Parts: sequence; structure tokens; C-alpha cells
Amino acid sequence: MQRRDILRLLAASPIAVAARAAGLLQIDTAFAQAASPDVEIELTASPTSVSLLPGAPTNVWHYSARLLRGPASTLQPIDGTHLGPVIRVRRGQRVRVRFRNQLPESSIVHWHGLDVPESADGHPRLAVPSGGEYIYDFQVVNRAGTSWYHPHPHMRTAAQAYQGLAGLFLVADDEEDALKLPSGSGELLFALQDRRVDANNQLVYPQPADSGMSGRMGRGGMGRGGMMQMMETMNGWLGDRMLVSGRIQPTIDVDRRTYRVRVLNGSNSRFYKLAWSDQQPVVAIGNDGGLLARPSSLPALTLAPGQRADLILELSDHRAGDTVQLLSLPFPADAVGHAGMMRNNFAVPQGAALTLATLRVSARQGPRYVVPEKLAADTFTPSTSAPVRHVPLTFMQMNWFIDGKTFDMETVSAAETVDAGSTHIWEFENRPMMGMGMAHPMHMHGRQFRVLSRSGADTNALRSGIHDQGWTDTVVVLPGETVRVQVTFSDYAGLFLYHCHILEHEDMGMMRNFRIRPRA
Ligand code: C2O
Ligand code: CU
Ligand code: CU
Repeated sequence: MQRRDILRLLAASPIAVAARAAGLLQIDTAFAQAASPDVEIELTASPTSVSLLPGAPTNVWHYSARLLRGPASTLQPIDGTHLGPVIRVRRGQRVRVRFRNQLPESSIVHWHGLDVPESADGHPRLAVPSGGEYIYDFQVVNRAGTSWYHPHPHMRTAAQAYQGLAGLFLVADDEEDALKLPSGSGELLFALQDRRVDANNQLVYPQPADSGMSGRMGRGGMGRGGMMQMMETMNGWLGDRMLVSGRIQPTIDVDRRTYRVRVLNGSNSRFYKLAWSDQQPVVAIGNDGGLLARPSSLPALTLAPGQRADLILELSDHRAGDTVQLLSLPFPADAVGHAGMMRNNFAVPQGAALTLATLRVSARQGPRYVVPEKLAADTFTPSTSAPVRHVPLTFMQMNWFIDGKTFDMETVSAAETVDAGSTHIWEFENRPMMGMGMAHPMHMHGRQFRVLSRSGADTNALRSGIHDQGWTDTVVVLPGETVRVQVTFSDYAGLFLYHCHILEHEDMGMMRNFRIRPRA
């Protein structure tokens, strides 16, 4: 038996849950034991169905939650949709989440954007089997910002997220409070996802039994259908229905006022070039890592899978009856690119012009918000001494590689081993093969990082929508581009992940561990 199988069996026993909580599986939960939480949530992943289209209900997987302790405002369910509840916390709070896996397969939850201990990060080796539980304990050390949560089991992240498992995780703090941003009904939360839905209203996704991913695992052969699907997933899977917070191209009634619009690209692989139909610029006040130092204003904003944007939308000058749409502007599919010679035949390809949501302005007047020149303190200092690691992103032998390697559950290289709290520059070089490659949104777990420079893809149609300001945890590296980021690694020691956030790429192995060594 392999070590992984033993761990799986161990994890299946009821004792394992207790053992894990007690830190007996070599996971440091000393912190967890030390303090009672401010917020305690029971989060259950289970199959359910929602009414997505007229006719038959759509089977989905869903996170539901129960608040066991803490302010009632902590959980904000998005009723009638596949999306998990919005979880709202404040910086400094101690959070405990009791995750219950009622799916027919193993799973684990990852808090994307949060700096948490190894035991709370949702590494695939911590996945619990069907019927199992996992207890997360962490303190919210992040500043205010828009994070999210989604599954992270080995080779099943894409399928499980697609099936519906995802939710927003919003952090507030005093710095954000001081800005008095539009809140309550003045805040819109848009999770962008695309899905393919069949004639019976069921979600369409390559199944593991005949997909290329299982072929790689050696489970049975790969039929012709499997080969087709492998080619499709290699480029990332695209849907032909655009969902905004669980509803297909919704129309939303709004007031004549200023809105804060928080947008998550929760799609498996679709890139968006966001714009407002009334031509007002896309004004971003924050991104993955929270508030920007100053607002950034662009005609259109590129949002890659995994990324978030915190926007200000001005509707005060509109008249009752006006509509304003959130669009994704058209761009050539080659801006995202494709794997080798293979192109997809998706009904709605990358770069298709999309109407995501329609806002219908009412006669009601609400407060106008004037965006301050200065939003937050900028705490970033470019390093002059940080070691530089060159990280090629390549496509070879029908697979994607990071620095020539694919994912292995426990392995890290010397270049992937860093000291707690140390500062490094990682230089992602997206090397197209024979002029072909794909844009990869590279994500690092834990700390938010900064983009130092970006070169080589100036004519790419997605380039002008990238502002590279502020802290981020997911950076787009366009085909042919080299992007340098500076990261100061977490003080939490352990094994963490970095990967492409095209979820099909992640599951194919475009993911690696990095190890943070404890401080001496
Ligand atoms: Cu949102 Cu490791 O991912
Ligand atoms: Cu993450
Ligand atoms: Cu990728």
C-alpha cells in the first residue's frame, strides 16, 4: 500500500477526525487548541438541486452553513442558488470551521486569499472522505478584502467547483471602515461563473470515468470520447451560460446611487474583460489583496480565473428606467491561447462578447459616494536583495509544467523551499511552444504578493486591462510574457501550494508545493 492510501484509510476512521484535531497527524494545531474562537461555523458540502432554468431542477453540489458562535452578520446565504453563503469576518477574529463532507467523494476546503496555518489551508493531502469531517482553526490576519473558498482535493478541484462548491469570504477591518464605502443594499456581490447545461437542465462536465485526467491516473483506457474531452480540458473547460452569483444573466433592480461592486471570477477557466455598458470607466478600489493605495480607472478590466475586483459603480446620474450592463468585451481567443495545436469548439469561446448582468435603475435616489484620492496606506517596499527564482511555464507532451515539473503530493524542490517571513522574487516566464501557449493565472497560497514588472506581451488584447497595482494572490501571465513578483512568505511554516488557477490545468498537475521552513 502506498503512503497516500494509508493516509486515506486513516482519514476514513472516526478516530482520525479526533486525531487530526489533536495534531497527531503531524499537523500543528497547537494554536487551535489554545483559544476559543470568536466565530464558529459548521460548513456542509452536499448534493442538492436548484432551479436554474425553467423546467427540471439542476443537480448541484453546495456548501451550506450554520452559525454556531459569533455575530449573526457572519453568514449571508445566497438563497436558491448553488453558491455557498457569503462569510463575513473581521481582521483579528479567531475562526473555527467544522467542515462536514457529505459528498459522494473526498474533499477539503481551501480559503483562497487567506494567510492561514498549514493545517487550515486545505492542501489535497488533508482531504477527508465522504462522511468525514475536518476542523479548521485560524485567525484572520489578512487586511480587509475579498477572498473566497472552494474545494481543493487531488485532481477533483475543477469538477467539484464546477458542480457548485464555492463562496465568497469577505474580511473587514478599521482601515476599510474609515472609507465609509457603500454597504448594505449599496454593495453588490457578483460571482462570475460559466456553465454548460444540457437539455435536461443538468451541468455538463467531462466525467472522470472517461476523461483524460483519469487516463493519466491509469484507471482504464481512454476512449475516443475521453481523448476529445482531454483535449477540451487541456485548454480549460468553458460553459455557454453566464452565471452571476448563481443566476443566469440576471436583471437586478438598483437605485440611483453609488454602488460598491465586488466581483469574483469563479469560473474554471474563462477570462473576462469587464466593462460597463454606459461607458463609465471601471474604477477599481481593491483587488485580491484588498484596498489599493489609490483608485485605478480603466476602460475595461481583465479578470482571470481566481481573481477578484472591488469596484465603484456610479449610477447617481442615471434616470429611472435606464439599464446599465456589466459586459465582458470581445477579444481575440488567441489572447488566452490554446494548448499546442488544439483548439476547442466551445459554443462560447474565450473572448466572446458577453452580457453578464443587467442593472435596471429605479426612481429611488440613494447616497452618492465620492472616491477618495487615497484609499489605503501603501506598505510595499521593492526589495533590492531578494533572491530571484526563474519559473518557466511550459507545455510539453500534452501537459502543462511549472519549472519543468508537475504536481506530486509531498514533493518540493530546493528552489521551492523558503524560510518563514523571507522575501523572494519569482519570475514567471510563459514560454509558448512554436508560438502557442496559454495565459496562466498563477496563484500562490498564503501571502499576497506584488507585481514588480511585466514584459513581452504588449500587443495582447488582455494586456491593457491589467493594472498590476496593489496586493494580489493571482497574477495573469500572458502567452510570451515574463512577470516578476515579490512575495514575503508567511510566518506559518509548512507545505503550501502554488498553481495555475485554470482549474483544469491545476488538476492536470500545473501545481507545485512550496515549503516554508520555520524560523530558526
Ligand atoms: Cu483558489 Cu489553490 O486555489
Ligand atoms: Cu488559494
Ligand atoms: Cu494554466
